[in-house]
Amino acid sequence: MEIKFSALELPEKGSGVVIIGEDLKLSPLAKSLDRETDGMIEKAIKSGDFKGKKGKATSSVAPGKLDYVLLLGAGAKKDFADKSDFQGLGGNLYAQLNALRVKSAAIIVEDKRGKFASEEVAANIALGFYLRSYRFDKYFTKKKDDEKPALKNLTVLVKSPAAAEKHFTKIKPIADGVFLGRDVVTEPPNVIYPATLAARCEELEKFGVKVEILGVAEMKKLGMGSLLGVGQGSAKDSKLAVMQWNGAAKTKAPVAFVGKGVTFDTGGISIKPANGMEEMKYDMGGAAAVIGLMKTLALRKAKVNAVGVAGLVENMPGGNAQRPSDVVKSMSGQTIEVLNTDAEGRLVLADALWYCQDRFKPEFMVNLATLTGAIVVSLGNQYAGLFSNNDALAKKLTAAGEKSGEKLWRFPMGEAYDKQINSEIADMQNIGNEKGAGSITAAQFLKRFVNDVPWAHLDIAGMAWTKKDLDLTPKGATGFGIRLLNQLVEDYYEG
Ligand code: BES
Ligand code: MN
Ligand code: ZN
Repeated sequence: MEIKFSALELPEKGSGVVIIGEDLKLSPLAKSLDRETDGMIEKAIKSGDFKGKKGKATSSVAPGKLDYVLLLGAGAKKDFADKSDFQGLGGNLYAQLNALRVKSAAIIVEDKRGKFASEEVAANIALGFYLRSYRFDKYFTKKKDDEKPALKNLTVLVKSPAAAEKHFTKIKPIADGVFLGRDVVTEPPNVIYPATLAARCEELEKFGVKVEILGVAEMKKLGMGSLLGVGQGSAKDSKLAVMQWNGAAKTKAPVAFVGKGVTFDTGGISIKPANGMEEMKYDMGGAAAVIGLMKTLALRKAKVNAVGVAGLVENMPGGNAQRPSDVVKSMSGQTIEVLNTDAEGRLVLADALWYCQDRFKPEFMVNLATLTGAIVVSLGNQYAGLFSNNDALAKKLTAAGEKSGEKLWRFPMGEAYDKQINSEIADMQNIGNEKGAGSITAAQFLKRFVNDVPWAHLDIAGMAWTKKDLDLTPKGATGFGIRLLNQLVEDYYEG
């Protein structure tokens, strides 16, 4: 996809796009486009039911040199509180143009909107457009050209194209990180397994990220019996990827992100039903977010020290698989009775979190995990669950969520839930002993491995994959968490 910024002049060919708010006012260039096309814009507004509502669009074949003119509803002022709203508009634009099967289009971004300068509006529309254009089609061998997207380029017409371009270059690393995240989630589990996902992490070295991969022997030495227990039923060796981006002074404590990277979750001996099991290829969505985020931070040379840790395992029911009732010892020294081998994510994170805080003494730790089906029951596909031992961190995360459009909803934690994971035979068990609150007892389990570090757990089970197209995401892997955590870093932890 080619995206260009250019001065406010009517396009010579392709399609023209006009953004119209609920006031139905046309900007000067939109007015000249209207004249150029025999008044078709005014006509469309007067005759049709196009009211400038957010997310609504109308198009018609244009007289003269242009192919189509598309009117894109921008809604009211209140619909544009954050830059993610402009990104959403851009994503919507991509979908509309793609449906028309036009090859190229130019969009007029004439005004500033609220507190946003026109170049910022332009750059964010472009980013949203680009995010929505994501495709993963490498495994099709017979796809015909007319089955592929026709849309090849977008020109954003704006008062100061150089400033808009500069702004876009600044935020484009977000999309680069998101695309990497989506790629590794979408890849099938015979292609992406712990060793190959670790190799994808190592590719970040070319952007200046320091990457270490720990193998089974090293993890054994560290005492990571909890993580290793999950992988022991698989023919694929487990790995731990440790990534570091150092963009601030050496003396500054890093911020840390930890991801669940279960490259496939069969459930192990507590095996899952066949129906829907294929979805468990995205059980490494937390790790994918961490990897994508590290790429974004490195590409935009963020002024922060950041650590990314990904626990990479495959949960399989092989002959050496762990059994329900096995007791394992974690790196923290705490013992765990594994009552359900399908509650494996927390076992992986237990050692990854402990390792991270023990080695890096981070300012805070945020982990991401497709951890529980219960969070999908609670929140569906609208919010990720937020669990934290620290109100200040939780507040910052929630704010970054609203701003980036990747929203979080905080859940309670506490003693009464914590005691539900006490075991009869070991320090704890990996599932709760009462009905209900499955997402919370999972979070309580993780909390036992973070000591006093400010920590938050994001349960993204409902967010890592989408079954329908969203404004910024064609159906499939979303890359959820990358925009959110990049926002968190940018707003609170740089400079
Ligand atoms: N990976 C699953 C959770 C999940 C479910 C992710 C749906 C995405 C969509 C996790 O490992 C799991 O199996 N959790 C169990 C825990 C239970 C055994 C306590 C669950 O949620 O059923
Ligand atoms: Mn599971
Ligand atoms: Zn899982």
